[in-house]
Amino acid sequence: MKLSAGLITLALTAVAAAQSVSEWGQCGGINYTGSTTCASGLTCTEINTYYYQCLASVTTVTTSTSSTTSTAPPATTSSPSAPITGFVSTSGQKFTLNGATYTVVGGNAYWVGLMGLTTSEMNVAFKDIAATGATTANGLRLIVTLTNNWSDYGGMDVYVNQLVGQGQPHDYFYTNSACISAFQNYAKTFVTRYLNEPTILGWELANEPRCTGSTGTTSGSCTVATVTNWVKTMSAYIKSVDSNHLVGLGDEGWFNDPSSSDYPYQGGEGIDFVANLAIDTIDFGTFHLYPGSWGETSNSTSWGQEWIINHYTAQANANKPVIMEEFGVTSDQYNTYSAWYSTVQSSGLSGVLIWQAGSNLSSGQTPNDGYAIYPGTQVYTLETQYAASMKARG
Ligand SMILES: *[C@@H]1O[C@H](CO)[C@@H](O)[C@H](O)[C@H]1NC(C)=O
Ligand SMILES: *[C@@H]1O[C@H](CO)[C@@H](O)[C@H](O)[C@H]1NC(C)=O
Ligand SMILES: *[C@@H]1O[C@H](CO)[C@@H](O)[C@H](O)[C@H]1NC(C)=O
Ligand SMILES: *[C@@H]1O[C@H](CO)[C@@H](O)[C@H](O)[C@H]1NC(C)=O
Repeated sequence: MKLSAGLITLALTAVAAAQSVSEWGQCGGINYTGSTTCASGLTCTEINTYYYQCLASVTTVTTSTSSTTSTAPPATTSSPSAPITGFVSTSGQKFTLNGATYTVVGGNAYWVGLMGLTTSEMNVAFKDIAATGATTANGLRLIVTLTNNWSDYGGMDVYVNQLVGQGQPHDYFYTNSACISAFQNYAKTFVTRYLNEPTILGWELANEPRCTGSTGTTSGSCTVATVTNWVKTMSAYIKSVDSNHLVGLGDEGWFNDPSSSDYPYQGGEGIDFVANLAIDTIDFGTFHLYPGSWGETSNSTSWGQEWIINHYTAQANANKPVIMEEFGVTSDQYNTYSAWYSTVQSSGLSGVLIWQAGSNLSSGQTPNDGYAIYPGTQVYTLETQYAASMKARG
C-alpha cells in the first residue's frame, strides 16, 4: 500500500541569502520575487527559465537534448571552480557545513541509479534536481540508504530468506545474529568505500523499517524495543567504521502511544520515533507523510500539518535536526504541498525532501508512481520557491 524505495535521497546545499544573493543563491526565474542582485564578484546566470543563480564563474549548463547529432558532447553541468569540500555535521537542531547552517531541501529520486540512464541523461536529471534548490549539480549531496524494508531492490527479506530460511519472519532481520553480521559486513564495505566522500551527507540504516515486511510474516515478538535495539547496534557500528558522515534511521516517524486511537501514533509498526531519535549514534531524525496510505483520508492536509508540528516538537526536545524526508499525495498536490511546506517553514523543522523528483529526458519521462513532479509544472515551481525560502530561513 505504500511506496517502494527511497533508495537515494537527494539533498541540496543551501547557503542563507542576504539582501544581495550569495554564491549558489537564486537571483531570478519565472515568478521569482527575491533579490536579483548577486554579491560582489558573482554573476546572475540563467540555469533555466525558472531558475537563475549567482555563480562565481560563467557556467554553461546545457539542457538542450538536440537530436541532430550523436557526436555532440553529452549535456553536462559544468562546475564552477569551487569543489565540494567538508562533511555535513550538526549543531543543535541545525545541519552545518564548514561552520555555516546547511539547509536540507530537495527531493527523492530512487530511479536515478536504477534505470540504466546514460551519463548525459543522469546529467540532465541531476541538473533538474539541482535547479530547484539553488545549487548546480556540483552542489548536490546525497543521503544513501543501506537497505529497504520493502522487497523492492532486495531488502531485508533477502537476508532473512537466505540466512534464516525461506519465508521466515521479516523481523528476524533485526535479531538474528547471521543477519546482523551479514548486514554489518555489507555496510562496512560500502561505507568504507566512501569514507572520504564529501558529497555524501549521511547514511540511513534502512528505508521505512517496520516489524513486518513485504512477506507480511512476523515472529510475533517484534516490538518497538526490537527495532530500537537494532538501531542502537547498527548506528554504533557504522559510527565505529565511519566517523565522517552523519547517520539517520530512514523511518516513517511513527510515534509510540499505544493509547492513541490514531494509527500513525500507536507504535504498532514497531517504531518509536522519540526513542530512536534519542540514541547517541543517531545524528538526525527522519519522518514521512503519506496520509492517503495511512487511512488519514479526511482532512488529510491539516492532519499532515499536525504531524509536522509534532515532529518539530520532538526535534526541539531531542535538540537534533529532523527532516520530513518523504511526503506525497496524488491529488490536489499544489494546495496540500503549499500548506505542508508552509508549516515546515514556520514550525522550524530542519529540512524537507519531496517524494519525488522527475525529469523529462529525451528518452522519455522518468518513472511516475503518481507522485512524481516534473520541471515546468506548478508544483515544481512551488518546490523551487520553498527551497529558496527555507534557505533564507536557515
Ligand atoms: C515493509 O514491507 C512489508 C512487506 O512489503 C509491508 O507489509 C510493510 O508495510 C512495509 N513497511 C513499510 C514501512 O513500508
Ligand atoms: C481538521 O484537522 C484539524 C487538525 O487536526 C482539526 O483541528 C480540525 O477540527 C479538523 N477539521 C475537520 C473538519 O475535521
Ligand atoms: C515535462 O513534462 C511535464 C509532464 O508531461 C510537462 O507538463 C512539462 O511541461 C514538461 N516540462 C518541460 C520543461 O518541458
Ligand atoms: C506564476 O504566477 C502566476 C500568478 O500567480 C501563476 O498563475 C502561474 O501559474 C505561475 N507560474 C508558474 C510557472 O508557477
